[in-house]
Amino acid sequence: MRDVCISKGIYYMGVNDRRKHLFENNWPLPFGVSYNSYLIKDEKSVLIDTIEYGSNDNFLNHIERILAGAPLDYLVVNHMEPDHSSMIECVTRRFPNVKLIGNAQTAKILKLYFNLPDESIMIVKDGETISLGEHTLSFHLIPWVHWPETMVTYEQTTQTLFSCDAFGGFGTLDGSIFDDENDFEGHYKSEMLRYYSNIVGKYSGMVQKAFDKLSGVPIKTICPSHGLVWRGNPGRVLELYSKWCNWESEKGVVLVYASMYGNTEQMADFIGRILGEKGIPVRTYDVSKTHVSYILSDIWKYKGLILGTCAYNAQMHPMMEHLCNEIKLIAPKNKTLSIFGSSTWNGAGVKALVKYAPEMGMEVSGTPLEIMGSATYDKLAQSAEAFVDEFVKSL
Ligand SMILES: Cc1cc2nc3c(=O)[nH]c(=O)nc-3n(C[C@H](O)[C@H](O)[C@H](O)COP(=O)(O)O)c2cc1C
Ligand SMILES: [Fe+2]
Ligand SMILES: [Fe+2]
Repeated sequence: MRDVCISKGIYYMGVNDRRKHLFENNWPLPFGVSYNSYLIKDEKSVLIDTIEYGSNDNFLNHIERILAGAPLDYLVVNHMEPDHSSMIECVTRRFPNVKLIGNAQTAKILKLYFNLPDESIMIVKDGETISLGEHTLSFHLIPWVHWPETMVTYEQTTQTLFSCDAFGGFGTLDGSIFDDENDFEGHYKSEMLRYYSNIVGKYSGMVQKAFDKLSGVPIKTICPSHGLVWRGNPGRVLELYSKWCNWESEKGVVLVYASMYGNTEQMADFIGRILGEKGIPVRTYDVSKTHVSYILSDIWKYKGLILGTCAYNAQMHPMMEHLCNEIKLIAPKNKTLSIFGSSTWNGAGVKALVKYAPEMGMEVSGTPLEIMGSATYDKLAQSAEAFVDEFVKSL
């Protein structure tokens, strides 16, 4: 890796992981992911976070090369999730005099993961500062973005925020490290929203609190622990996060169906076309085909959600139940939800979806549309327009 200097004495030390298939063994990574670490070289030198163990063999050598014989004095542990912390033990072995900096919560979790002597951990309080020489660091606790111990580190002289999982995104840094070197709107933005909705979105209330806490802090550069470093236009990522954490959505509908033999799918396309005629953008997904990660991302983005399922053994289809469970976990708000489905003898799928709606924190708007047996043109022509009209009224 070529050396990347972010500003005087601050280096990008992150790595790309194109090999991992699923982040947290759940979320697909078609464009990979980066684990970002940073090194500040001053009278005292500091590494900020590490990388996932096994993702790159050269990480420690790279640190040594930049340090050029100087000792590594501190390792700041902003977050203990192993995608950032699993190299801590390797760092302490290579640099035995390094002191780990974390808050009281970090220290507790550090001890659950590593066998470290007490004197190797320096506990900092919220807002505490340390001087490195020309640079001064302050530490700010942002619990639950993404774990209870998570904090951000701010460098005062260069106004750099090491924001950890906040402002991160999926996708490797292919050549470009900085936002101003990259096609953000064309590529990274969707990977960033997918990361936000899948990983951070559940904690949106805590992201709002983090925003309040950092308001008034001048920020020139944002260095997250995944994805692009924001030096050209950090305001852009702040603007997007502020929208996402306040559950603001765009005009449009995500239409998701589970179908075995095509009847529920027929209904979905019929409904989708009526919405299209009304000029409402629609994204339609077969829940058995597209990974929930992408569907959740679009659910976060758009205001409308229409879920359809065939009945299946007195329940909804299991793949739709999986999606509902993931929606419940990430808890998007301010959505307009309608339900439809197909069955042959008891309408169990639609009933199950209606029952599940409150668990997702949603109300069903309008009357669900249910078709028994074949979803013929005549049945749909008689019922679908009224269903869509009712839905659109509350959109
Ligand atoms: C494994 C299986 C289980 C089913 N369970 C139910 C059920 O509990 N209640 C019901 O009314 N229909 C049930 N059905 C019938 C289907 O829900 C019905 O044929 C529906 O129209 C299928 O929709 P699709 O063409 O979108 O797959 C079941 C069908 C299958 C194959
Ligand atoms: Fe995390
Ligand atoms: Fe992370």
